[in-house]
Amino acid sequence: MTTPSPTTPADDVLRAHAEYEYAAELAALAAADDRPRPPRWQLSPWAVTTYLLGGTLTDGTVITPKYIGSRRLMEIAVASLATDRALLLLGVPGTAKSWVSEHLAAAISGDSTLVVQGTAGTTEEAIRYGWNYASLLAAGPSTDALVPGPVMRAMRTGSLARIEELTRIPADVQDSLITVLSEKTLPIPELDSEVQARRGFNVIATANDRDKGVNDLSSALRRRFTTVVLPLPDSLDDEVSIVTQRVSSLGASLELPADLQSLSEIRRVVTVMRELRGGVTVDGRTTLKSPSSTLSTAEAISVVTSGLSLAAHFGDGVVGAHDVAAGLLGAVVKDPVQDAVIWDEYLETVVRGRPDWDDLYRACRDLGTGAHR
Ligand SMILES: Nc1ncnc2c1ncn2[C@@H]1O[C@H](COP(=O)(O)OP(=O)(O)OP(=O)(O)O)[C@@H](O)[C@H]1O
Ligand SMILES: [Mg+2]
Repeated sequence: MTTPSPTTPADDVLRAHAEYEYAAELAALAAADDRPRPPRWQLSPWAVTTYLLGGTLTDGTVITPKYIGSRRLMEIAVASLATDRALLLLGVPGTAKSWVSEHLAAAISGDSTLVVQGTAGTTEEAIRYGWNYASLLAAGPSTDALVPGPVMRAMRTGSLARIEELTRIPADVQDSLITVLSEKTLPIPELDSEVQARRGFNVIATANDRDKGVNDLSSALRRRFTTVVLPLPDSLDDEVSIVTQRVSSLGASLELPADLQSLSEIRRVVTVMRELRGGVTVDGRTTLKSPSSTLSTAEAISVVTSGLSLAAHFGDGVVGAHDVAAGLLGAVVKDPVQDAVIWDEYLETVVRGRPDWDDLYRACRDLGTGAHR
């Protein structure tokens, strides 16, 4: 039970866990890494940060950037995990919280699969342990009848446990984490025993800004986390490179035979998202109303990916205005009344006025918005 052993995936899984997808990079980093590693870490904090932000190793291996953004934020996150403080990644939807959490667990513990998905229905058993009821009824509580949850498994193996959407979990269930984080112990009263965390154990939680207030974290719990707020990308260029990189790798794994050379299309999609999200055009001249929908980088990624699929299967293989228009409409107009009016205004006042955006204007107009019908 000392080394985590996630099962080897079949060749055709739709989405491999990060530790498999990037196994070659992780192995090259481990080989090149001569810095001290905290107990049970597969890599040193320096190598983990390089894995996240990308770089070129002395042997020439290129490490692709996973997170595009501030190096300091990632250093703070990694440094916190090397202490006894847990890490809370906070931010608006689509700011790569889950993505970073998965990559951190993959790089540090070699296993990103010890995950609790937080919902309003998450119970204490999901965090701690449950029972195999057949064994429990037949033989009473015993170690064999105990079904450890992800946190307990991480404690036993000295790995990272991930808790997604922490703030959606009911407050009393969240509180069961306090003992785990402060005492590093999980009591099992039924067996009159406990599990003590081995060195290397820690927790990465993610939480969405917008859920705040639903079940605000108790201060007792919050104190045990280092909070790192992941921001929306600073600049248009940063966001364009995030979308380009993610779409290329998604397109490759879906084997979409389409051409992504059309960077200009990505730039336009990202521009639309940023302008509507920020309520102002990129030149700062026109203020806009923002729709109710979350227009994060994640939405831009899915608009371009669906455009890629449309172009591959029903178009000429090159992503154009025509292929992204429907995705844009779907991403922006979530509320058929208010958002449709906002979209319509945006098309008329901004898109229409840009000479080189004529094709996008027409493609969007051809779809209608619902406001005119
Ligand atoms: N700064 C960034 N660097 C790299 N990828 C990013 C960045 N921002 C967003 N992404 C991409 O956006 C997608 C969505 O990210 P993710 O699902 O992790 O968001 P999230 O913050 O967990 O959102 P939610 O609050 O909805 O759970 C991922 O594919 C990720 O690669
Ligand atoms: Mg998430």
